[in-house]
Amino acid sequence: MSKKIMSLIMLMVLIASFGLVGCGKDAATTAKVLKVGTDAGFAPFEFQDEKSKEYVGFDVDLIKALGKQMGYEVQIQNMNFDGLIPGLEVNSIDVAIAGMTITDARSQKVNFTKPYYQSGLTIVVKNDNTAIKSFKDLEGKKIAVQIGTTGATEAKKIKDAQVREFNNAPEAFMELKAGGVDAVVNDKPVNEYYIAKSGSKDAKAVGEPQQAEEYGIAVAKKNTELAGKLDKALEEIKKNGEYEKIYVKWFGKKPGN
Ligand code: ARG
Repeated sequence: MSKKIMSLIMLMVLIASFGLVGCGKDAATTAKVLKVGTDAGFAPFEFQDEKSKEYVGFDVDLIKALGKQMGYEVQIQNMNFDGLIPGLEVNSIDVAIAGMTITDARSQKVNFTKPYYQSGLTIVVKNDNTAIKSFKDLEGKKIAVQIGTTGATEAKKIKDAQVREFNNAPEAFMELKAGGVDAVVNDKPVNEYYIAKSGSKDAKAVGEPQQAEEYGIAVAKKNTELAGKLDKALEEIKKNGEYEKIYVKWFGKKPGN
């Protein structure tokens, strides 16, 4: 056989096999992928399991349940909290779920689903601190917050406070433990979880929740279709008991109690 014919045959075989690979792939990947961004330093909403190294938490279970309901395979990406909205804007992620409070400023940039969790801000101080009991007592104090959060925005409004911003909530708590700041301003359920799990000997939460905050799942501004699908799925898993199951798993009580 001439070299020319040989290479022609090889070329045909190659083309044919590409075709086959193409078909196989189509069949295997009919499950659509939902690229989900989160900031996994926010227990019990999203954090990395120490043993399995998997991302776990209320938000993680929730988005997996919603994905399943909508027929999507969920892929989780861990990133900085302040990178989530930019990530949606450039389409590197489809969805952000990260205990993200629905605010007017954020609603200018992204679409939020209906609220899925009621939250608010509280203060964490060292156990032996008797001077700080409320937000009023934070005037002139050193406060640690996570960058880009509602806690950071609120702390900056406090008169004469020195606000130090950290990449994630665990770093802010570490700074309090190390004595670098007087207080941390952060979301109530996360503060409570932190104190219960790790810091009960050295830290306590004080102050009435600063204001009602509601968490929403964010998608790109243009993506109203996906927001609609998520809302529908959220309603469905609230009806079929799946939402309540996940809520009880992470908070030890039923929603609304
Ligand atoms: N709820 C607050 C906010 O929206 C804090 C959220 C921080 N989330 C996180 N995964 N670190 O600003």
